[in-house]
Amino acid sequence: MNGGHGRNSYANNSSLQRNVIDRSKTMIDEAIANHLDIQICPPSSSNTFRIADFGCSVGPNTFIAMENIIEAIDLKYRKSGSTPEFHVYFSDHTSNDFNTLFAYLPPGKAYFAAGVPGSFHTRLFPKGTLHVAHSSTSLHWLSRVPKEVLDTNSPAYNKGRILYTNAAHQVFEAYSAQFGKDIQAFLHARAEEIVCGGLMVLNVPAIRDQTPPSEFQTETFSIFWDLVSWTWPRR
Ligand SMILES: C[S@@+](CC[C@H](N)C(=O)[O-])C[C@H]1O[C@@H](n2cnc3c(N)ncnc32)[C@H](O)[C@@H]1O
Repeated sequence: MNGGHGRNSYANNSSLQRNVIDRSKTMIDEAIANHLDIQICPPSSSNTFRIADFGCSVGPNTFIAMENIIEAIDLKYRKSGSTPEFHVYFSDHTSNDFNTLFAYLPPGKAYFAAGVPGSFHTRLFPKGTLHVAHSSTSLHWLSRVPKEVLDTNSPAYNKGRILYTNAAHQVFEAYSAQFGKDIQAFLHARAEEIVCGGLMVLNVPAIRDQTPPSEFQTETFSIFWDLVSWTWPRR
């Protein structure tokens, strides 16, 4: 993503992604209240909750998402009589602008911060260390263009295009298979890293199962306009 804090930076052009985070807050509150099992899984002898944001990018969104999670855990945990501490790991590709990210950490933040560079399709944390794994509008990024799509001899060859709307069914199948491999790699890695009783919060842009490939673009735009119309009055 575009780093820095300029006019064209991700930090200043990510209000749609911000809406996704805002809209998921109530679900996160409920999930933490009802499913984060601190009885099975006390944070640790030092009372520290460890939360990671996978695909954090730069800008306010990741801070807002982490604060929402912390607030919900704090509310639940304080009822049991002790004061938790929080360690937040901001994770993204090594090329992410971590300098800008850290320069804009909220001054009064109620957590310790760390950066974790690397692909979320691989292991990034030791076994059984994370209490909450979060990722928002990032998991649709594929690790690579499927090789068949670039192979001129393959029925899935996409003639250099990056869209598969109106493309041969094999092109859609190739992208779909790549997403299958990538999400499996993500889930395998997180399965090792998350403590028992921990939680995963994933916001993934999607289209309905029954949508035919010819309507992918229309459906994607309708989700996009839904978010824009939700954003507009609030700006
Ligand atoms: C659209 S941004 C979302 C940023 C932030 N979560 C938000 O809600 O505003 C997607 C981010 O995912 C990151 N990303 C994509 N693939 C990744 C991977 N394999 N490993 C780590 N980060 C990845 C990108 O670098 C980018 O910063």
